[in-house]
Amino acid sequence: MSSGKPAVRLALLGCGTVGSEVVRLLHDQAEDLTARIGAPLELVGIAVRRPGRRRGDLPVDPGLFTTDALGLVKRDDVDVVIEVVGGIEPSRTWLTEALGAGKSVVTANKALLAEDGATLHDAATRGDADLYYEASVAGAIPLLRPLRESLHGDRVTRVTGIVNGTTNFILSSMDATGAGFGEALEEATDLGYAEADPTADVEGFDAAAKAAILASLAFHTRVTAADVFREGMTGVTAADVASAKEMGCTIKLLCIAERGPDSTGQESVSVRVHPAMIPRSHPLASVGDAFNAVFVEAEAAGQLMFYGRGAGGTPTASAVLGDIVAAARNRLAGTRAPSESAYAHLPIRPIGEAVTRYHISLDVADRQGVLATVAGVFAKHEVSIATVRQSGRDEDATLVIVTHGAPDANLAATVEDLRSLDIVRSIASVLRVEGGV
Ligand code: HSE
Repeated sequence: MSSGKPAVRLALLGCGTVGSEVVRLLHDQAEDLTARIGAPLELVGIAVRRPGRRRGDLPVDPGLFTTDALGLVKRDDVDVVIEVVGGIEPSRTWLTEALGAGKSVVTANKALLAEDGATLHDAATRGDADLYYEASVAGAIPLLRPLRESLHGDRVTRVTGIVNGTTNFILSSMDATGAGFGEALEEATDLGYAEADPTADVEGFDAAAKAAILASLAFHTRVTAADVFREGMTGVTAADVASAKEMGCTIKLLCIAERGPDSTGQESVSVRVHPAMIPRSHPLASVGDAFNAVFVEAEAAGQLMFYGRGAGGTPTASAVLGDIVAAARNRLAGTRAPSESAYAHLPIRPIGEAVTRYHISLDVADRQGVLATVAGVFAKHEVSIATVRQSGRDEDATLVIVTHGAPDANLAATVEDLRSLDIVRSIASVLRVEGGV
């Protein structure tokens, strides 16, 4: 289809799982994209590390490949730079250069946005350029645009998400089969969900980067990965999952970003990533397999749920293509995407002030006064006990205690004190409980 308008020219940085799907979609949907934008999209270069690598039947002119990413970004005939390489450098240099020169940027780079989004946003302001990054969080799910645009008339109070597919697959499998973490991780690796080195996923680094991006958008405040409290899910055991079931709960690796008053009453932001028990009736509990979902609460809108595929080449490419269309339309219309909204400058509340509930499983000596002593430790730290379950074995017993909400610091101090008691043989697990059990 000819639109009569000159093409919007694209440079692609990276041609791996996501990049090759971007190329394929640009080719397969060229006619529709032209009709939707009002001008054709033209891929003018693809920067890769190994241009000679076989790329199957990728519908692209091999002459477009180059190893000189910076040279490609600087070319005068490039309007939009698409980055799907990841990592901090050299991506930051490429994108800063592009934005500063007034080129639109579409990126999926969560690590860069979470660690140093400020540099990109500042470059976008300097160059009066678009910076789009829908694919950086939760793959195909349209989530950042709703936070960045649709909800800008509202006040978001809390964002709770399952934003890592690998760990959701592992925890869903542990819940369904009773398997331990190691066995479920092996299954996830065999099926291609988990990477050979799963650290970024299972230790929560991936989710923490996404949490920082979500919190920044939701609360109009710059939040970096370093601001996010992070605890991985490798310590979740089959016994924890069984105990969660007894309480009518399941365990998920959650990212939770919320705004509210700190201990001095000042409005602030708290962002954390950790495994938590949630009731099976919670909308996030039914999110299985490697799916992602994000639950947003806003003052006027109430509760919203976004659900879909959070990873994979084609779903992530869908989000990238949406951003390319938006950036191309803006260029044709001579307008810009909404720029960064960070006017609120809310302080970050330390994890110790986050009000949570704990599920604590203790192995104790089974004799008189033990329960009273244990309960006394909770009372000393002003933590109220909601339920206690005891199961016995000879001279020993297991106590499972669930608390009411209390500042995380009080709960942590309670656990520390419990550890030092002679009658406590071991603390088998400590898990947070979320979502109104
Ligand atoms: N490794 C991530 C996940 C996908 O398992 O969800 C990319 O962010």
